[in-house]
Amino acid sequence: MTQIKLSERAAAIQPSPTMALDAKTKALISQGLDVVNLTAGEPDFDTPEHIRQAAEASINRGETRYTAVAGTVRLREAVASRIRQDTGLTYEPSEILVSSGAKHSLYNAVLALTNPGDGVLLPVPYWVTYPEQIRLAGGEVQTVAIDPAHKGELTAEDLAQAIRPNTKGLIVNSPSNPSGAVIGRAHLEGIARFAREHDVWVITDEIYSRLVYDGVEAPSLAGFEGMRERTILINGVSKAYAMTGWRIGYAAGPKAIIQAMSNLQSQSTSNPTSISQAAAEAALKGPQEPVEEMRREFDRRRRFAVSRIQSIPGLSVNEPKGAFYLWVSMAQVVGRTIRGRTITNADDLALLWLEEANVSVVPGSGFGMPDHFRISYATSMQKLAEGLDRMEQLLGE
Ligand SMILES: Cc1ncc(COP(=O)(O)O)c(C=O)c1O
Repeated sequence: MTQIKLSERAAAIQPSPTMALDAKTKALISQGLDVVNLTAGEPDFDTPEHIRQAAEASINRGETRYTAVAGTVRLREAVASRIRQDTGLTYEPSEILVSSGAKHSLYNAVLALTNPGDGVLLPVPYWVTYPEQIRLAGGEVQTVAIDPAHKGELTAEDLAQAIRPNTKGLIVNSPSNPSGAVIGRAHLEGIARFAREHDVWVITDEIYSRLVYDGVEAPSLAGFEGMRERTILINGVSKAYAMTGWRIGYAAGPKAIIQAMSNLQSQSTSNPTSISQAAAEAALKGPQEPVEEMRREFDRRRRFAVSRIQSIPGLSVNEPKGAFYLWVSMAQVVGRTIRGRTITNADDLALLWLEEANVSVVPGSGFGMPDHFRISYATSMQKLAEGLDRMEQLLGE
């Protein structure tokens, strides 16, 4: 029998490590094991009722056919209006592309902007999907170390250390998954200056922009001088409105780039689901109180989890200002032996916790920092407390 050989592109791609661990955890739970799952990358709340009702109404109106590839004009107007309210930036519907999740929006943007051999700057830690998307486009991942003095906030100085002659682009994610860091106005100013001076395009992933705490603001990088024309702004409804399964994300940027992204989408997936588009429209235009309610609850858990982790010997964490993750250093645990296993990195520790304490976290290797791990606090207070207790207990042995 002849064996079909995979393309080099397909063979080189790494599956999402966060999803792999989540799948393993869910498999153990389905076998009846009492596993506390702190890996989730999605809100644990239900999609608000008025949004679900809008989807039902859309089905009943018979909106079950293809829409415009870029999304309905009504939804793109709702996106424009939301961006205007949240950032002060104005975009025409022709400068907006709706896709099947923000991950899809990012993929369209990376494909539209990256030529084989182009360097793309990627601050560390990065969300696991970015390097794979850059590689899929044939680009070169150029990691950027963030000065620890700035607690996860990227600065122009960090970028200056990493730029190379073939650098063409930069991906910025604030608030960050996994670190929860939010880049402040002064640093964004510097990053904008860097982008202008070196003529690099920028993708700014602002999917967690509505989930910020302690009164910090998360301004859009697209709003800084000279940035609108070189920036693709990415956002979506998944995180703010608890709509991860609906698969709606969007991109806003210069018309020519949005058109190119739309062309790519037209020959791959076409429009995102018509019904989800109606739901997203209701989310963006309707009452915003549910977002605030969820944000407050995340904040309560964040405060609890940060102080709890700070009390566990061997672990340390910077207080995150956005998203719903804690990015925890386990560097002090490296070299220790627990239950006969020597811990060399967070992968070892995550596996030990899962197998010996039934608690699941995501190791940092996929995010570019193998001595860190990510905890999601998108879970109940009770589960969070139980999970942290189990982690501490095993570490204490
Ligand atoms: C930083 C970041 N960007 C984008 C996404 C993708 O969002 P979506 O579910 O809309 O594709 C995620 C989801 O985990 C994320 O963490």
